[in-house]
Amino acid sequence: MDKLRVLISREQIAARVGEMGDRITHDFPQESLILIGVLKGAAIFLADLARQIQLDTTFDFIAVSSYGGAKHHSGEVRLVKDVDQSLNGKNVVLVEDILDTGLTLTYLKNLLQARCPKALKVAVLLDKTARRIEPVYADYMGFEIPDEFVVGYGLDFAERYRNLRDICVLESA
Ligand code: IMP
Ligand code: MG
Repeated sequence: MDKLRVLISREQIAARVGEMGDRITHDFPQESLILIGVLKGAAIFLADLARQIQLDTTFDFIAVSSYGGAKHHSGEVRLVKDVDQSLNGKNVVLVEDILDTGLTLTYLKNLLQARCPKALKVAVLLDKTARRIEPVYADYMGFEIPDEFVVGYGLDFAERYRNLRDICVLESA
């Protein structure tokens, strides 16, 4: 059996996501925005963040897979699903669940930047700075967390636990 320990409560998440939405709203005055969520982990974060942004906003989704086991990154990223529209001249906010080694985000930033958006910003809910390999940063960051494997609020272990309302550390018994 897996043991779960709450690291960030649903109340803390809601408060912080509200602040992030306010910042994004403030940074793009009178502009429209495309939020691009990275499937599947960012889906719940995107759904909550979007409702805290008071701008003309649309959604899109992208999917990547990183080769290797569930808890460890192999370093190779592959695009599984692209966005459905041109990003040329658009304000884009890439929405990701967690920034770990930075390999995924580096790959996605390069991919989207090549589409010539007007602006490209990154919003991540969690940042594990200790594990960074690529020097990549988020423009909007929810919580810096220690080097522990977390699940819940969209994040999974072997596809499980995405529906937990709190972010929990998965402690193998
Ligand atoms: P990176 O490319 O190493 O930065 O990895 C980012 C991706 O790894 C995230 O989008 C997650 O899917 C996954 N990931 C990294 N750390 C965790 C974790 O603690 N729990 C669940 N997924 C994680
Ligand atoms: Mg992910």
